Amino acid sequence: MTASPSDTAPAGGDLSGALGLYVHWPYCARICPYCDFNVYRPRNDGEALLEAILQDMAVWRERTGPRPLVSLHFGGGTPSLMTQAKLSRVIETADRLWGLASGAEIGLEANPKDQAGFADMAAAGINRLSLGVQSFDDEALVSLGRDHDAKMGQASIDAAQSAFARVSLDLIYARAGQSATDWEGELSIALASGVGHLSPYQLTIEPATAFGKRVERGETLAVNDDAGADLYELTQSLCEAAGFPAYEISNHARSVADQSVHNRLYWAGGDWIGVGPGAHGRLGRASAGGRISSEALRRPDAYATGPQRHEETGLSAHEEAAERVLMGLRVSEGLDRRVLRAATGLDVDLSGLERMQAQGLVRTQGDHVALSGDGRLLADGVSGELVPDEEA
Ligand SMILES: C[S@@+](CC[C@H](N)C(=O)[O-])C[C@H]1O[C@@H](n2cnc3c(N)ncnc32)[C@H](O)[C@@H]1O
Ligand code: SF4
Repeated sequence: MTASPSDTAPAGGDLSGALGLYVHWPYCARICPYCDFNVYRPRNDGEALLEAILQDMAVWRERTGPRPLVSLHFGGGTPSLMTQAKLSRVIETADRLWGLASGAEIGLEANPKDQAGFADMAAAGINRLSLGVQSFDDEALVSLGRDHDAKMGQASIDAAQSAFARVSLDLIYARAGQSATDWEGELSIALASGVGHLSPYQLTIEPATAFGKRVERGETLAVNDDAGADLYELTQSLCEAAGFPAYEISNHARSVADQSVHNRLYWAGGDWIGVGPGAHGRLGRASAGGRISSEALRRPDAYATGPQRHEETGLSAHEEAAERVLMGLRVSEGLDRRVLRAATGLDVDLSGLERMQAQGLVRTQGDHVALSGDGRLLADGVSGELVPDEEA
C-alpha cells in the first residue's frame, strides 16, 4: 500500500542493507546562475519522459528482485513542476513493482513558487517536502537569480507545514557581502519557522555555471575560505543552540525522525536505483558479487527515447571502499568499520587513522570513526587519508 502523508518515515536504524529509488525530474522554470545540476527549461509536457521513467523502473525491478523501498525521492531540477497525476503514477508504479516499506519516506524537492500545488502533492502520497527557500533577503534572492522573494518563501513554509508533517528548508549562505550578523538573522528565521530539518549549504562556485564564468572574469560572488569557515562554525553553534544538531556536514534535524532517510541511505552505502535523466544509482556489494554504479543518459530526449538508458560500471572493492569511507564520514555518528569490512573485505587505512587521530581530526568509538569539529572543516582531505591503500 502507498504510505499516507501522515505516516512517519523509518526512524534511525542501519540503512546499509536498504533499497531506495531516486527519480530525477530535470526541468526548472528558470535556471539559477549558481546551479550545476542536470537541469533544462521544459520544452514539452513531459509525458514522454514520464513514460520512460516508468519503463526504466520496470527494467530495474528485474535487477533488484523483490525488495521493499524505504525511500522514494523526487529530486531535480524542480519536481514540484510535476502534476499530481504524474507523481501518482510514479508512486503507484513503485508500490506495485517493489512495494513501499511501512512508513517509507516519499520526499520531493520543491520551489517556493509552486506552493499552490502542495496539497495535491500530499494527496499523491508525498510525505516529506524539501523547500528551496535559499535566503530571506530579497536582494540576495535577486542576485541568486531566484524567481521568488522572501515573502513568498515564508508563505511557502507555512503552506508546506499545513500540507506535510515533515518539512526541510534549503538555504545558501557565504554569499559575497554577507556578514555574520546577516547570516545569523536569516538562519534564525529558519530555526524559528517550525520545520524539523535544515540544509544550510555554503555557496559553491561551479566552473560550468553563469556564476563560474563571472568569477573567472574577476567578480567576487562568495566569501573567502576563512570567512566561509567562520560562517560554518556560526551555523553549527546556532543550530545546536536551537535544538538542531548536525547529523551530517550540512544537514541538521530536530530529532532522528526528522532526518532524511533518502540522504542517510546514500551515506550508509545502501542500494539505490536512479531513474530520470542523469540520475546515479548503486547496487550490490563487493562481498556479494560486486557493486555497480549506474548513470542515466543526461539529456531528457536521449533518455526518453531509450532503449539503453544507463551506463554502468563495476566498482572494484577498493573503489567501493573509497566511496563508503567518504560518504560514511559525512555523518556525525561516523563510519561503521564493521559495515565497511563486511561489504568490501577492506578496512580504513590504519596509519592514516592514527595520523588523523593524533591531529584531533577524527575520534573513534568502538567500530565507529567520526570527524571531529575541526575535521569537518577539512572533511574531504581527512576522509582521503582514511581510504584504504589500493594494494591493501
Ligand atoms: C535540486 S535543488 C532544490 C529544489 C529546487 N530546484 C529549488 O531550487 O528550489 C537542490 C539544492 O541545492 C542547493 N544548491 C544548488 N546549487 C548550489 C550551489 N552552487 N551552492 C550551494 N548550494 C547549491 C540549493 O540550496 C538547492 O535548493
Ligand atoms: S537551484 Fe533548483 S530551480 Fe535553480 S536551477 Fe538548480 S534545480 Fe533548478
